[in-house]
Amino acid sequence: MTGQADIDFGQRLTEIADRVTVALDQLIPPAQGPEADLMRAMRHAALANGKRMRPFYIIETGALFESPDKTLLRTAAALECVHTYSLVHDDLPCMDDDDFRRGQPTVHRAFNEATAVLAGDALLTLAFKILASSETHPDPIIRLRLIERLADASGACGMVGGQMIDMLEHNAPRDLNTITRMQRLKTGALIYYSVEAAGIIGGANEAERNALHGFAHDLGLAYQIADDILDVDGDETLVGKPLRTDAGAGKANFVTLLGVDQARERVRILADQARTHLSIFGTRAGVLLQSVDFVLDRPR
Ligand code: IPE
Ligand code: IPE
Ligand code: MG
Ligand code: MG
Ligand code: MG
Repeated sequence: MTGQADIDFGQRLTEIADRVTVALDQLIPPAQGPEADLMRAMRHAALANGKRMRPFYIIETGALFESPDKTLLRTAAALECVHTYSLVHDDLPCMDDDDFRRGQPTVHRAFNEATAVLAGDALLTLAFKILASSETHPDPIIRLRLIERLADASGACGMVGGQMIDMLEHNAPRDLNTITRMQRLKTGALIYYSVEAAGIIGGANEAERNALHGFAHDLGLAYQIADDILDVDGDETLVGKPLRTDAGAGKANFVTLLGVDQARERVRILADQARTHLSIFGTRAGVLLQSVDFVLDRPR
C-alpha cells in the first residue's frame, strides 16, 4: 500500500493508469459476433491515453484506509467507464461536436454516430455490472452503496444534469452561480465520487468523510476550471483534444465569464482549500497533496 509523501506523483499516476488500462481491457467484452464494432468502439474510447485521474483518486484515497487493491481497482475501472462514456457522448455532433479525444479520432469519427451512442451506453451499463459483482467487494451492502452513489453522481442530479446546463441555448442567462453549479455537476460529481467511494470501501469515519467531501468539492471545481483554462492556453498536442473551441461554441464557463487571470486565481484558491481539508490525514496524504499541484498547473 502506498500514499507516502516520498512517492512521486507522476510515477504513481502512470502506474495507476497502466493498471486501470489492463483492468479495462479484461472487463470490456471481446469484439465478437455481428455486434463486434460495439466492443471495438468501447475499447477505442476506454483503452486510449486518458490521464486516469478519477481512478488515481479512488486508489490513492483508498490507500489512506489500506483497502484491498482489487476492490479499489475494480471500482476505479467502473468509474473510468462512466467517465469515458461521458466523453464519448460529450464529443457527439449534437453536443460539442469534437473530432479528437485522447490524441485520436473521437468514436463517432472512427466509427459512426450510432456506434458512439451505443458504445457510451454500453460503457455506462458495464460500470454498474462491475460494481455489482462480488469480485469487487464481498459485502453486498457496500456494493449497493457504491452503486447507489455512482448512480447519483452520474445521473440527472450529477454529471448528466451538468451537461444539460452546458447545452442550454447560447443566450440563456448564465451567471457565476449557474456556472458554478454546472461545473460542480458535470465534473465535480464524478471526482467527488472517486474519493467518496474510497471512503465507503475504507469505512471512513464522520470526520474523515467530511474532510474528503471538502477536498473533492474544491478539487472537482478546480479541475474543470483548469480544463476551461486549457481550452484557452493549452498545447493541443499535449492535451490530445481540440482546443480554443469553447468561446466560439458559445460556452459559458469561468474563463469566458471572468477571463483567464481571474479563473486562474480561483483555481489557486480552490487548490489551497483542497489541501487544507487533507490535514487530518497527515503525511499519509502526501501523494494526494502532490496531485493538487498537478491540477493547479496541468499541461493536459
Ligand atoms: C475531461 O476530463 C473532461 C472534464 C471533465 C474536464 P479529463 O481531463 O480527466 O480527461 P481524460 O480522462 O484525461 O481524457
Ligand atoms: C465535459 O466538459 C465534461 C463531461 C461531463 C464530459 P468539456 O466539454 O469541457 O470537456 P472536454 O473539454 O470536451 O474534455
Ligand atoms: Mg462539453
Ligand atoms: Mg467537450
Ligand atoms: Mg473542456
